[in-house]
Amino acid sequence: KARVAIVISGEGSNMAALLYASRLPTSPYEVVLVASNNPDAPGLALAAAEGVPTWSQSHRGMSREAFDDALHAALAAARPDAVALAGYMRILTPGFVEKWRGRLLNIHPSLLPLYPGLDTHARAIAAGDSSGGCTVHLVTDEVDSGDILGQLAVAIRPGDTPETLAARVRLAEHQLYPSTLGAYVSRHEDAGWIEAQVDALTADLAEVS
Ligand code: GAR
Repeated sequence: KARVAIVISGEGSNMAALLYASRLPTSPYEVVLVASNNPDAPGLALAAAEGVPTWSQSHRGMSREAFDDALHAALAAARPDAVALAGYMRILTPGFVEKWRGRLLNIHPSLLPLYPGLDTHARAIAAGDSSGGCTVHLVTDEVDSGDILGQLAVAIRPGDTPETLAARVRLAEHQLYPSTLGAYVSRHEDAGWIEAQVDALTADLAEVS
């Protein structure tokens, strides 16, 4: 099975969806670490209760580079083949993104390229769109761009508020992320990608320790 680390900042409902899906007998991946920049993130407690190793460190009082170095070291030590950002609310430094290029995924609550950034549901409603939705994409230096791996549309209903729409989009996210991540790691496993990444990470780990 591919090894997946998940990075969160808050509730962690997408992390929970990824984790429970990983426990289905047919899952192509297992969750080896849940990491957070917020030691109080509710998702960390859920992961710990499920027996998943966790790592957290507050980003406060640290430079962006120093925090991303610490996050990178924690991730590298868990030897993941892929890293899934799930409600991680900080922008990553280019150096970090480069180290995980091609194996760093994110879920975003809009139909990208529409509405990168924040307040996606309010913007979709204000624009009079007939649907919102969610996107799983590879992470690149530019926020919420990068190759799109999967999308699900969610109808906007009359009277929807950003909150009511967000709640339905969240249900769609919980379906989209596990299946898209699973398909992505399976594709790469077939191509011998996992072995190559393990070698790269081993070299990386020697560097940070
Ligand atoms: C999700 O809707 C996710 O798409 C969004 O935050 C929420 C996290 O919920 N992510 C972003 O906005 C990233 N910029 P969760 O903690 O319950 O998974």
